[in-house]
Amino acid sequence: MTASGPVRVALLGCGVVGTEVARLLLTDGAELAARVGAPLELVGIAVRDVTAPRDPVVDRALLTDDASALVRRADVVVEVMGGIEPTRSLLLEAIASGASVVTANKALLGQDGPTLYAAADEAGVDLYLEAAVAGAIPLVRPLRESLVGDRVTRVLGIVNGTTNYVLDQMATHGLELQDALAQAQELGYAEADPTADVEGHDAAAKAAIVASLAFHTRVSVDDVHCVGIMGVTADDVALAAETGHVVKLLAIAERAGADGVVVRVHPALVSLGHPLASVRGAYNAVFVEAEAAGELMFYGRGAGGAPTASAVLGDLVTVARHRVLGGKGPVESRHADLRPRPVGEAVTRYQVQVRVDDRPGVLAQAARVFADHDVSIETVRQARADGEQADLLVVTHAAPDAALASTVAALADLPVVRAVVSVLRVEGA
Ligand code: NDP
Ligand code: HSE
Repeated sequence: MTASGPVRVALLGCGVVGTEVARLLLTDGAELAARVGAPLELVGIAVRDVTAPRDPVVDRALLTDDASALVRRADVVVEVMGGIEPTRSLLLEAIASGASVVTANKALLGQDGPTLYAAADEAGVDLYLEAAVAGAIPLVRPLRESLVGDRVTRVLGIVNGTTNYVLDQMATHGLELQDALAQAQELGYAEADPTADVEGHDAAAKAAIVASLAFHTRVSVDDVHCVGIMGVTADDVALAAETGHVVKLLAIAERAGADGVVVRVHPALVSLGHPLASVRGAYNAVFVEAEAAGELMFYGRGAGGAPTASAVLGDLVTVARHRVLGGKGPVESRHADLRPRPVGEAVTRYQVQVRVDDRPGVLAQAARVFADHDVSIETVRQARADGEQADLLVVTHAAPDAALASTVAALADLPVVRAVVSVLRVEGA
């Protein structure tokens, strides 16, 4: 490709996202060409099965099952096929042959982003990934470019639409998790196999990407403390409402001490007054705190073919412009080199629901355990007391997560404690 010729685009994948990318390329071709400064020529679409039925917008003559040959004749490779292999090898092949890459593949970037970043850096090509985190929402570029002059201290967000939909249905209709999940699957919000969503792995991959960008450091998905939503009960959600909270699956990345970063994904109580509490259905929202900018919130559709394709096209136009005009975008920045720290070093608050004997002195014994672990209690509420047993709902002040976890373990060992019914962190106060 030269400044006068078209930019050759290879599309890897033609599923939910790929079909919408193809549609936008076809329907908005003239306008995209004007924005890029050269036409975008779709030179091929790699799929697994070239005979499978496709949306009529897809030109079947472009379909191929030889992705490897396709990437070697492109200026920009748009990867929306997902998975780790053969995707990683194909992208490395593309980069080695001088192509820039646009990818939506959070699983690959969360697991092995550094290999791709290093290869792109060495080859002097772009690697853009806006669609990999929170679908249509511009977040990667604000973190990588707009906030690069500031110091981000914390990123807190809802980055998985499926789990937000499920938790929202539980809160709105009092459903048990399995029923809300079944409904999400029927409506097409959740995939047939929703494991990566409900176990938190999808959010953990996104959290690793966001943490790496926000803190100029390398964080892999293996550094992320990850708990999904499968342990959340209808009772947890109902109790949360009684105390003015909602349960959300949060991804949190924050500085820990002078040279550390803690990244975690888990269900948490969010006060109804916090902007994240009003994020409903399958929407995503990310709250960024930076020293000079203060608090910023990014909100929108985190998934779906067209919203994700919007982010992909934004990247494609940008890297194609670089091809036409020369130069390239920012590379991975890891100069801060913060150390990923265990979740025990996070400072947070807990809400603990403990089922105890309903008799004199029990509350004092429970309170002693908190004091012994240097954990300060903010509120205590007693619910469902029947003269035999009662539930204590204890909310703590902020303390190191390790101290809070030890407190819960010690509570469970008290003879007057029948069960620790639930433990949820309280975030976003
Ligand atoms: P789909 O499963 O709908 O589509 C995957 C496409 O890739 C299919 O066309 C498939 O071919 C093709 N494909 C898969 N493996 C290979 C292979 N080995 N060789 C050639 N082609 C292959 O996935 P989505 O469109 O939903 O997701 C694509 C990517 O975008 C993933 O990384 C996902 O995490 C990410 N993403 C998705 C979002 C969404 O809302 N769906 C949101 C944000 C990111 P065939 O059609 O023949 O099966
Ligand atoms: N499964 C993801 C979600 C898709 O539910 O948010 C977007 O990455």
